[in-house]
Amino acid sequence: MATFTLPKNSRITGESRTHAAETTGNLKQFKVYRYDPDSGENPRYDHFSIDLDSCGPMVLDALIKMKNEQDASLTFRRSCREGICGSCSMNINGRNALACTTSIEDCGAGEVRITPLPHMAVVKDLVPDFTHFYAQYASIRPWLQTVTPAPAGKERLQSPEQRAQLDGLYECILCACCSTACPSYWWNSDRFLGPAILLQAYRWLADSRDEMTGERLDELEDPFRLYRCHTIMNCANVCPKGLNPAKAIAEIKKMEAERLV
Ligand code: SF4
Ligand code: SF4
Ligand code: FES
Repeated sequence: MATFTLPKNSRITGESRTHAAETTGNLKQFKVYRYDPDSGENPRYDHFSIDLDSCGPMVLDALIKMKNEQDASLTFRRSCREGICGSCSMNINGRNALACTTSIEDCGAGEVRITPLPHMAVVKDLVPDFTHFYAQYASIRPWLQTVTPAPAGKERLQSPEQRAQLDGLYECILCACCSTACPSYWWNSDRFLGPAILLQAYRWLADSRDEMTGERLDELEDPFRLYRCHTIMNCANVCPKGLNPAKAIAEIKKMEAERLV
C-alpha cells in the first residue's frame, strides 16, 4: 500500500495571532497563511482586521496595509500592481488569482482566506518557490530559434495573419495560477511540464519566424512532458489573463499527430 508523507508546511498547527485594525470603521477580516521554514515552527493562520474605509479596493491593497500597519514581517511578492508582472499570484478563498486584480468586494461577505499557490514549496508566508517552474520554462527554449540568416539589415517580418497566431499566447505573464491549479501537475510536476509552460512552448511553435518546429516537437513528444494533460480544464478556468492553456496543449498534440500521417 502506498504511504504518503505530508510536507511540514501542509500541517497548519501553529498558534494563530490576531492583528486588530488601527481604526474602527468598515472592518473586514482576513485569514492569512504564515510560515517561516527557518523558524522550525509549523505554519499558522493569522487573523487581520482591516478598515476598508482607509484601504484600496484590491486584495493586494489589504496585504500592503497589513504589512505597513500591523506586521512588517508578512511576506508576499508584488511589483506592477496592475496584472502585468505575475508576481502576486496566490490562492484567495480557494481559487488561484492575482491579488492586485482581485477586488475585496468580490471576495464575499465573510473572512477572506489567503494561502500560497498550492502544491509548491513555500519560501516564506505567501511566497512559493518557483525554481522548478522556471527551470521547466528554460527547458522549452523560450526564444526565437532560426537557421536561416535574417535579410541583411532587416527584421524577420510577419504578415498580420501570422502575427495573429500569437494572440492568446503572448499575453501569458507566467504567474503559474494555471499550473498550480492542475491536478495532473500536482502529482507529476517532476516530469509533466504543466499548462503554463506548455502554453509557452506552443507560443514558439505557432511563431511563423521560428525554424525549430521539428526539434521542439521532438522534445515534447514524451508520455509525461506533454501527455499528462487530461483536459480537466482547471487551467483555463483560473487564468487571470483569460487565456486557454488547454487549447494550446491540444494544438501541440494535434501537431504531434499530424507529423505521423
Ligand atoms: S487541461 Fe490539462 S493542463 Fe489544464 S488543468 Fe487539465 S490536465 Fe492540467
Ligand atoms: S496561462 Fe494564464 S494562469 Fe497560466 S501562467 Fe500564463 S497568465 Fe498565468
Ligand atoms: S503585482 Fe504584478 S501582477 Fe499583481
